[in-house]
Amino acid sequence: MKSSGISLHNISFTYRDGTTALQEVTLNIHRGSFFGITGSNGSGKTTLVQLLNGLIPHHVEGALMGNITIDEINTRHHSVGFISRQVGVVFQNPEWMICNLTVEEEVAFGPKNMKLGEIEDRVHDALEAVGLKEKSHVDPNTLSFGQKQKLAIACVLAMGTPYIVLDEPSAMLDYQSAVHVYELLQKLHAKGKTIITVEHDTDLLFSFADTICILNEGKCIVNDNTQQAFSNHVMLKKMGIKIPRRIER
Ligand SMILES: Nc1ncnc2c1ncn2[C@@H]1O[C@H](COP(=O)(O)OP(=O)(O)OP(=O)(O)O)[C@@H](O)[C@H]1O
Ligand SMILES: [Mg+2]
Repeated sequence: MKSSGISLHNISFTYRDGTTALQEVTLNIHRGSFFGITGSNGSGKTTLVQLLNGLIPHHVEGALMGNITIDEINTRHHSVGFISRQVGVVFQNPEWMICNLTVEEEVAFGPKNMKLGEIEDRVHDALEAVGLKEKSHVDPNTLSFGQKQKLAIACVLAMGTPYIVLDEPSAMLDYQSAVHVYELLQKLHAKGKTIITVEHDTDLLFSFADTICILNEGKCIVNDNTQQAFSNHVMLKKMGIKIPRRIER
């Protein structure tokens, strides 16, 4: 039987200019988990995201050592298009992806491009899941920032990938909107999606994620269940990571 999940085995990555962003990272992200990645600025989080959808090594120049497998498929040997059927990524700024006239068209864009079937159902279900159904016909540029974030999540949902990766989804949201986005992710997780989120706000991770990886200067220094990962307050303080508190809901 194929083992499911994403495995990084001894990953090191150095950008073309000589900056080493990741060093000997070994991680297993189990299918069905709600996986949180945190660490200070420049610790390698976005580089890790680029590995998860194949941008590294296929589009970003640099030297990659080690292997990454998604349900035992080695990303070195498959295109970004192929990997995007497994792993959907919501990048930090949802405004980067907006290029269509209506919200509905925006969500349909990816599935049409990938020649997936049942476009109408995909778009309907994705917009319903994020609570944007009544905005179907509006210009996405007129949405609020939080709504654009939800639209970006809908675009990934419409692709139907089992893995959803988000790079700092709360970064530009007010606190209530950030909690709403995480409540939405929790619902998707309950329906079987594997959620992988890069997040500075450790309160959100503490309240929603089941497993945590802490990166520091490109190294994975903690990879454990959430309770355990955040238990060493002295180490967290040393790395400038906020000691988390559970969110009251
Ligand atoms: N395209 C690039 N070329 C060269 N170096 C890069 C490139 N992208 C990132 N880096 C470097 O790699 C290291 C890790 O960067 P990365 O963007 O992965 O960090 P991060 O943890 O996502 O930080 P942040 O919290 O600020 O988003 C940093 O030293 C950064 O300067
Ligand atoms: Mg980043």
